[in-house]
Amino acid sequence: MGKYKVSLIQGDGIGPELTNSARRILEYLNDNTLAKFDIIEIEAGDDAFIKYGQALPEFSFDAIKKSDVCLKGPVGERAADVILVLRRFFDLYANVRPAKSYPKIKSISPDVDLVTVRENTEDVYLGWEFNADSDTVVTLRIISEKACRRIAEYAFKAAIIRNGKKRVVSVHKANVLRKSDGLFRNICREVSKKYPGIEYSELYVDAAAMNLIRNPEDFDIIVTTNLFGDILSDEAAQVVGGLGMGPAANIGEQFSLFEPVHGAAFDIAGKNIANPSSMLLSIKMMLEWLSDKFNDVNLYIQGKNIENAIISLLKKDQKTKDIGGRLSTVEFTNLVLEELSRY
Ligand code: IPM
Ligand code: MN
Repeated sequence: MGKYKVSLIQGDGIGPELTNSARRILEYLNDNTLAKFDIIEIEAGDDAFIKYGQALPEFSFDAIKKSDVCLKGPVGERAADVILVLRRFFDLYANVRPAKSYPKIKSISPDVDLVTVRENTEDVYLGWEFNADSDTVVTLRIISEKACRRIAEYAFKAAIIRNGKKRVVSVHKANVLRKSDGLFRNICREVSKKYPGIEYSELYVDAAAMNLIRNPEDFDIIVTTNLFGDILSDEAAQVVGGLGMGPAANIGEQFSLFEPVHGAAFDIAGKNIANPSSMLLSIKMMLEWLSDKFNDVNLYIQGKNIENAIISLLKKDQKTKDIGGRLSTVEFTNLVLEELSRY
């Protein structure tokens, strides 16, 4: 059991408030458990852009490279210049976004427990856009067999280790994007044959968007291409009460990055009302990944404890404003720490 180097990007808007909560949780673990972390503060985002002319300056990049894992708050206007660069550089190919109904949060159904597994390196996210002539733009959508196979494998493996439904649905638009999404769907189909214990189905993305609202509890693992995954994961988060509870993992072979699904929310920034749960649940996912990678079971338990602390507070109606409560960011974090001290 070592000391894990966590690079921490504070982010913009509500980012600093959320990362303050995150820092307090990690410091609590440092002081009270066997889990030990070195927190390395990273400058990146809108402020870094103003200060250095770069949203992700070289020295920040270098510091992230030297860390074991990255925890990131939401970035504002310059988000794409930070997160897309990091996803590409570290080849963080799987964007894993759980959406769960938690107690006493208004959800379309009380039994939602799904995960969007979003391909995270290709599609229109390569940003290859060109002016064909003065009034026409061409965007390239890149879909490779390698990336399709890798994300499909990830989705089926994730289904195997999950309790319950063990379903994978491949979401695509192969009736229009015949070649690119045709490839994606065919590879998912091929990979599904290797996993007879997992129920496999396919949905067009428009039908998936509708069914996510109509029968969200029917979904287990959604595997999809990058842009559809971006959109459907926001929708899934809203189905279970909003983005305030939505964590995300960006998983690579060697390195991973954890962050809330949502953005910087400038409209509520600095008011001490943001829900830190998306960030704290991202820490949970980070601890699970570190636990796996470094074979450190204790981290897994600490991660579970964080989620259990949040669940226990929700059951007592101890909530932030976005999900119908009255607690401030700091008050909610204090209560999470109080819960943790009982475990
Ligand atoms: C997300 C965000 C990013 C994306 C933006 C900020 C580039 O919306 O992580 O979902 O589109 O992937
Ligand atoms: Mn998004």
